[in-house]
Amino acid sequence: MSSGSIRRGNGHNYFASSDDSKICVVMVGLPARGKSLIAGKAMRYLAWVGIPARVFNVGSYRRAGTPQPNANFFDPHNTEGEKMRRAAAEAAVSDMLQWFQSGKGVVAILDATNSTKERRRWIHERCQEANVETLYVESICDDEDLIMNNILEVKTTSPDYKGQDPEVAALDFRNRIRNYEKVYETIDDNEKHFTYVKLINVGSTVIINQIKDYLSSRLVYYIQNLHIKPRSIWLSRHGESEYNLTGKIGGDSNISERGEAYARALPGLLKKSGVPPNTKIVIWTSTLKRTIQTAHHLAAETGFEKLEWKALDELDSGVCDGLTYEQIAEKYPEDFAARDEDKYNYRYRGGESYRDVVIRLEPIIMELERSENVIIVTHQAVLRCIYAYFLNTPQEQSPWMEVPLHTLIKLTPRAYGTDEQRFKADIPAVSTWRAKGTSAKHQEYPTEIKA
Ligand code: SIN
Repeated sequence: MSSGSIRRGNGHNYFASSDDSKICVVMVGLPARGKSLIAGKAMRYLAWVGIPARVFNVGSYRRAGTPQPNANFFDPHNTEGEKMRRAAAEAAVSDMLQWFQSGKGVVAILDATNSTKERRRWIHERCQEANVETLYVESICDDEDLIMNNILEVKTTSPDYKGQDPEVAALDFRNRIRNYEKVYETIDDNEKHFTYVKLINVGSTVIINQIKDYLSSRLVYYIQNLHIKPRSIWLSRHGESEYNLTGKIGGDSNISERGEAYARALPGLLKKSGVPPNTKIVIWTSTLKRTIQTAHHLAAETGFEKLEWKALDELDSGVCDGLTYEQIAEKYPEDFAARDEDKYNYRYRGGESYRDVVIRLEPIIMELERSENVIIVTHQAVLRCIYAYFLNTPQEQSPWMEVPLHTLIKLTPRAYGTDEQRFKADIPAVSTWRAKGTSAKHQEYPTEIKA
């Protein structure tokens, strides 16, 4: 077989548009309205689907000159403060435009208050001169609980208040917000010529104006699905399967005896991971027997709603379905080597690549963003892709990540990242992990694995 016959997934992302549109997402809103959270999540989502994206945070530029200003710095009558804030915004916008010019960027997110019409007009002009589209995302929030949560997050995580008494920090931050309120102008009909989204109380009401291209519409669709209610997402592979025991990949086999023991242990493992009383969790599985069997006792014991998703089925290994890694290495040596070289993009003959799986998982991610507590029982490759979205794992690393059988992963999204905990069941299983450059036989996990 010639190397010309080795299939790779299209190295480009599926958003690739015929035009070279570049977009500056301009965040708008008072402090403590979740702007940085939205900016960070949008960047993670774009990176996951393969779009080069970067956040330019004006506060970070301002901190280079004024690391820990008090609220007076943000008083609109403070001319010195105003000058320095303007300089920070100019530096951020210049760096952003240079990044676009270098050809590295497709979407930049300008994370700042951008709270006056004058500031927004200036950004629009600068972007227009550089052939960059603008998309304004205004976050409006009058829900006191949401604002309080954000203030709490800022006073505990922002470098502006590092080392300060939290009560003093909270008071100062409130005064800073008051100073911004004095000049804040919401986006209104006079800015109808701009492309914008207004989010009211993150996710409850959304106003959309003049979306012009596919990439912007995908981004807006993503942003409008976000919410910031506290919740967790649990990920588990199916219990050990009959195919796992023989080292075969793919197929639709039943779970083994030990897999069944894991299925019985799963309700207890979930409880042990910390589920607040009266929490409603929805169980998602693939359409393959091994995940449905694994979730069986969990659904029966808890009464949680259960949904089967075709999109959660394992990566399709095409002609290699039902073979062991050793057989694949023997039968298709060039494919085996090509997969090792670029596992993310390698597409099995008649099957899928990791990149293909990410594309089919996009609706799952959208639905996950809209949902609250969910436990997903799925397969190794699919779990790696979902995990990579939440933990921002680079594409070249995610296909090699070790996700052992009989382990429950609990992910808890926070304002600036995702917390992860792993809970191992005390039930042995084979290891299906294969290191790069090996055709390792499946092995028993070390017996000391404990719940
Ligand atoms: C900051 O200096 O912290 C933010 C500047 C702004 O967005 O108004």
